[in-house]
Amino acid sequence: MATYEKPDGKAKPWSGRFTEPATDLVRRYTASVGFDRRLAEHDIEASVAHARMLQAIGVIGKSDLAAIEKGLAQVRAEIRAGAFPWSEAHEDVHLNIERRLTELAGEAGKRLHAGRSRNDQVATDTRLYLRAAIDQSQALVKALQRALLDLAEAHADTVMPGHTHLQVAQPVTFGHHLLAYFEMLARDAQRLADCRKRVNRLPLGAAALAGTSLPIDRLMVAKELGFDGVCENSIDAVSDRDFAIEFCACAALVMTHLSRFCEEIVLWMSPRFGFIELADRFCTGSSIMPQKKNPDVAELVRGKTGRVNGHLVALLTLMKGQPLAYNRDNQEDKEPLFDAVDTLTMSLAVFAEMLSGIKVNREAMESAARQGHATATDLAEYLVKKGVPFREAHEAVAQAVRYAESRGRSLAELKPAELQRFAPAAARDVHAALTLEGSVNSRSHLGGTAPARVKAAIAKARKSLA
Ligand code: ARG
Repeated sequence: MATYEKPDGKAKPWSGRFTEPATDLVRRYTASVGFDRRLAEHDIEASVAHARMLQAIGVIGKSDLAAIEKGLAQVRAEIRAGAFPWSEAHEDVHLNIERRLTELAGEAGKRLHAGRSRNDQVATDTRLYLRAAIDQSQALVKALQRALLDLAEAHADTVMPGHTHLQVAQPVTFGHHLLAYFEMLARDAQRLADCRKRVNRLPLGAAALAGTSLPIDRLMVAKELGFDGVCENSIDAVSDRDFAIEFCACAALVMTHLSRFCEEIVLWMSPRFGFIELADRFCTGSSIMPQKKNPDVAELVRGKTGRVNGHLVALLTLMKGQPLAYNRDNQEDKEPLFDAVDTLTMSLAVFAEMLSGIKVNREAMESAARQGHATATDLAEYLVKKGVPFREAHEAVAQAVRYAESRGRSLAELKPAELQRFAPAAARDVHAALTLEGSVNSRSHLGGTAPARVKAAIAKARKSLA
């Protein structure tokens, strides 16, 4: 039977049944080592665990294991030193490492792949990688939450206009506004923790899809690698990437929260608002307009959110048409996943730094809160406390607002006698309800914006992070 000459060192472990080599274009098209080499350390870690198990069940000898461990340590050192001979001819991270191991460890290296396939290998590596990425993301979310609490603490009683429809709605404290983002991030952290539970399962042992006839001990490998358990079905273990999709969904939500915050930062920094100043080190200038100082970091976080949302859709689309079990399509999960991790972690880190560079203009916030009759609802509720049905109180205050506007004044500037024309129940004490201070202080219930409540919420939040 005709067989092709394997060009020296270029033959792949699977080329035995082929009569000609892949074309150059096919080789380049199918190779993934350019990006999946990022999994190298996890690949080595998983190989060591697999080898120890093979030795424990008697498939390889003690000296084989020693040679494999030594060889893989050498491979790791070469990779760290940037001296590893990565080669596209060897397709992916797994084959590159196995080939070099065999060079270093001889026959022992050739024994390593017993009872496993690249299909369960790559699923394992990806899960190990993602587990570490989740841990890193969670630490960064926490750091950002701490930075938020510090800023909220400094501004527990700084009053700003709360908006709905981007129209002034009611006064709130800036600390309270910041704590809204704290809550979003707290849920993000919970989602990541929940996602981690499903990531942290061992696929190894599934082999190509159908398991192996060798007497493997999957629980031993799971324990060695710190997995909480094994993937219970070999076909599922190698084929689904829902764990990566789930992570991207979590990441997209974190980014979406940051993006909304960034949108506010951009608005607040605009002279139309003038609520905050961002330290120069977080801004950039214009190449033509000498006076410009732009909030580019905030804009980029907002912009990069689109990338992560895109990766989520890419992975969902990658998965949806695949028949069971493993298909090469899955190789395409890496770049979106890696970029989602990079984008998320960098955005979280830069965002926390940027928060520390925010200078708040209290005056501007408070004077904006005084516009737009922001305490109209307080007046209506004041009347309710005097026994007026809410719908009537609402109507009376609306009339008073119209009256104030027709005179170019704000509701809070009307004298009690003027207010009484619309709301006879208004007494001398009505003014306290109309001030910014009175307004925010009065909303002191659980989850409210009153400075005292905000301080209590911050204390509780700090405990939750400890
Ligand atoms: N590089 C491949 C991936 O990322 C490894 C698995 C290849 N398996 C195969 N049967 N061709 O998915």
